Amino acid sequence: MSETNAQGTPRLDRRPEWQALAKHGGELSGTHLRDLFDRDPDRGSRYTLQVGDLHLDYSKQLVTDETLRLLRELAAATGVFELRDAMFAGERINVTENRAVLHTALRAPQSATIAVDGQNVVPAVHAVLYKMTVFADRVRSGEWTGHTGKRIRNVVNIGIGGSDLGPAMAYEALRSYTDRGLTVRFVSNVDGADLHEAVRDLDPAETLFVIASKTFTTIETITNATSAKQWLLGGLGAGDEAVAKHFVALSTNAEKVAEFGIDTQNMFEFWDWVGGRYSFDSAIGLSLMIAIGAEAFRSMLAGFHLVDEHFRTAPPEHNVPLLLGLLGVWYGGFHDAQSHAVLPYSHYLSRFTAYLQQLDMESNGKSVDRDGKPVDWQTGPVVWGTPGTNGQHAYYQLLHQGTKLIPADFIGFARPLPELGPLAGQHDLLMANFFAQTQALAFGKTPDEVRAEGVPEELVPHKTFRGNHPTSTILATELTPSVLGQLIALYEHKVFVQGAIWNIDSFDQWGVELGKVLAKRVEPALTEGADVPGLDPSTKALVAKYRELRGR
Ligand code: F6P
Repeated sequence: MSETNAQGTPRLDRRPEWQALAKHGGELSGTHLRDLFDRDPDRGSRYTLQVGDLHLDYSKQLVTDETLRLLRELAAATGVFELRDAMFAGERINVTENRAVLHTALRAPQSATIAVDGQNVVPAVHAVLYKMTVFADRVRSGEWTGHTGKRIRNVVNIGIGGSDLGPAMAYEALRSYTDRGLTVRFVSNVDGADLHEAVRDLDPAETLFVIASKTFTTIETITNATSAKQWLLGGLGAGDEAVAKHFVALSTNAEKVAEFGIDTQNMFEFWDWVGGRYSFDSAIGLSLMIAIGAEAFRSMLAGFHLVDEHFRTAPPEHNVPLLLGLLGVWYGGFHDAQSHAVLPYSHYLSRFTAYLQQLDMESNGKSVDRDGKPVDWQTGPVVWGTPGTNGQHAYYQLLHQGTKLIPADFIGFARPLPELGPLAGQHDLLMANFFAQTQALAFGKTPDEVRAEGVPEELVPHKTFRGNHPTSTILATELTPSVLGQLIALYEHKVFVQGAIWNIDSFDQWGVELGKVLAKRVEPALTEGADVPGLDPSTKALVAKYRELRGR
């Protein structure tokens, strides 16, 4: 393996900064979080940062001032800041697709100037936002009616991956901000059951389909959209002339939208410099905007922008996304952590981790560097998690007493949403669990503490908690649209930092292609029993079994 990359700089694991961290990690191994707090009782207040409404406590991380210093040196040496500036400036940092990476332009104020190939993209961004606003207002006010003149009461978003997860997650997160008179559903799975369940109780005359697809070629989305069109026209007993009032498209591909039969007047545009998993601030957010209204949507964008500005300008010692990214590099690179848990203590954030799975794992699930050379270091972790208290009664056992090191982010809010009324009284109990868990994970319970409770000796090992499990705590006052935007931008930039250090292209997704191509090839084998060349013997036998069970 060559010692240098294409720019002539040393590969990551040959860098002195990396090696210094490896040495430091060795020296720190065996040091318990209990020791770190004994040595530095002020950690709890010293190891905190603030960005916007988000308070970060990282005192329960397995780091010292020296660790943080070395990690920041690694960031500087690996060009994180230069790459960050290049991203914000619209340079083509997505090298394998030769594209700019400008989701930050989607939430830039109208006065900003951000150029791609010499062209300021901000006016186009705001023109689309304006078009979305007008349309969302017309649907919400009842002015936009269906083919029969009935008011639209149902919005069904059809999309997958980045064209689904963002708006679906945010719709759940911001439910209490939504117009409760509207039914909003999200269909992504090509399993017909998804669309069936989404529309079975809806009146086609009152239903608007929002077809979200950057490429407008994604087979799942086009299949579901075609079926939705049949359902609608069948239900209305109408011809194609009804499509215009019931279908809108969110896409970069006007040609394919027109081919599908949607008038491009009813298309909300975005651009190839917006990656699918970074697209939810673009036109892809239309279903959400219809649900929560343009004002709340813009407030969410302002939350994103606030964190963008922080990431772009805050010094490294105070830069929250930088720190979170560095912590991930620390655990993956020097503690062999394989996964990362994100545990929101908010029912409204039930889809948040699912959203982060695409953001993080599609971005950083790579094993060659930007020059195409295999990496010798761990890249993106498995990201997982569900709302906290449910997890406590399911998988937290493994977090507390299993054999794995799993760094976790705990996300909680000081105030329940006003809508909860008398149920707001349960919030303190929820948050008592939130605080208790990070304490238990960090400090555990020693054998002596267990014995002191009179536990019989043979049960002492079973009731001992090793502790030393690292967590970050992110606390905000309330889950508002702006806070949601801040949280997402925080993770976007964390993922960016890690990709930059690992020297991978965080903005392509070639790994999803092979399965797509094979599925296309396998389908005729299932439907017609066609002899598909290149099928391996295992898959061939499975296909034969499938056909037998299917009665073909
Ligand atoms: O298959 C992966 C992917 O390309 C994602 O990156 C993307 O978010 C998703 O498919 C949907 O793509 P599209 O918006 O083009 O339908």
